[in-house]
Amino acid sequence: MSEVSIDVHRDGAEVTESLRRDVREGLSARPKWLPSKWFYDAMGSELFDRITTLPEYYPTRAEREILARRATEITATSGMRTLVELGSGSSEKTRLLLAAGTAHGTLREFVPLDVSSSALSASARAVAAEYPRVAVHGVVGDFTAHLETLPGSAPRLVAFLGGTIGNLVPAERAKFLASVRAVLGAGEWLLLGTDLVKDTDTLLRAYDDSRGVTAEFNRNVLRVVNTHLGADFDPAAFDHVAHWDDRREWIEMRLAARRPMTVSIPGADLTVRFERGEYVRTEISAKFRPEGVRAELADAGFAVRRWWTDRKGRFGVCLAQVRD
Ligand code: AVJ
Repeated sequence: MSEVSIDVHRDGAEVTESLRRDVREGLSARPKWLPSKWFYDAMGSELFDRITTLPEYYPTRAEREILARRATEITATSGMRTLVELGSGSSEKTRLLLAAGTAHGTLREFVPLDVSSSALSASARAVAAEYPRVAVHGVVGDFTAHLETLPGSAPRLVAFLGGTIGNLVPAERAKFLASVRAVLGAGEWLLLGTDLVKDTDTLLRAYDDSRGVTAEFNRNVLRVVNTHLGADFDPAAFDHVAHWDDRREWIEMRLAARRPMTVSIPGADLTVRFERGEYVRTEISAKFRPEGVRAELADAGFAVRRWWTDRKGRFGVCLAQVRD
């Protein structure tokens, strides 16, 4: 077992305070919305892991196919000494990079960062046990807020996988990519996974599976608000909706009220009224085109060195380097 340390950027009180602010803002807006990061308490992280095994949810398998084929090339091209993973979750696909990095002999340190402390501590311990020569330095935090500094020696490779960048709207993506650029030095690396635009049917099925796991994942955000803010949401009173926005090329997940209702949220000093059919937008998941990914990276100061897709062309992984 190698050395493991975990830094916590926010304590419980700060997490509750930031949820409170998001709930007050999002549920007073029209249409109502909640940030998707609030899905991921222990149960939400488990439900997401189940989603990744569903037949309809192709992104995880497509990305794993790419990483399995390219891990050695990624390691050799970057010469990474530190692997940073943002939104690491269970770090399941990251094992492929850890294995290649240790085989190549350059990798010294793994820095997973995630909002879920339960998912983070479990994966940090598992990785430390599996890769005894790699020091693990976990960070519990929000990658849109806690990127001022990154531990580890250069060259670092920041992996942002799963298509999670698609959960940000374009302005947030620009800000986020600029913040990643700002913590890296010239010559350091970003490995970015992006889900690609494809036929609407495939996309909708991936976000509305036949077993209803995605629906439960979606409703979990209401349970999180109940637990932390003492709200009385009845999750069963909301329908799961997956909607494809053709103009903005993103999937929107929504929770639509099955009947008119009033929900009280004492921890946010808020009472929220729902008309029948009124929805809360709980997630956007943008789908990309290769030229769009390249342009967004270029704007943030990165040059794309490699671009790969899975054999069916569903998902893209790009290896980009900070330009000097
Ligand atoms: C891991 C955040 C990228 O947007 O596809 C899965 C989350 N939402 N099913 C995605 C998710 C609904 C997932 N990300």
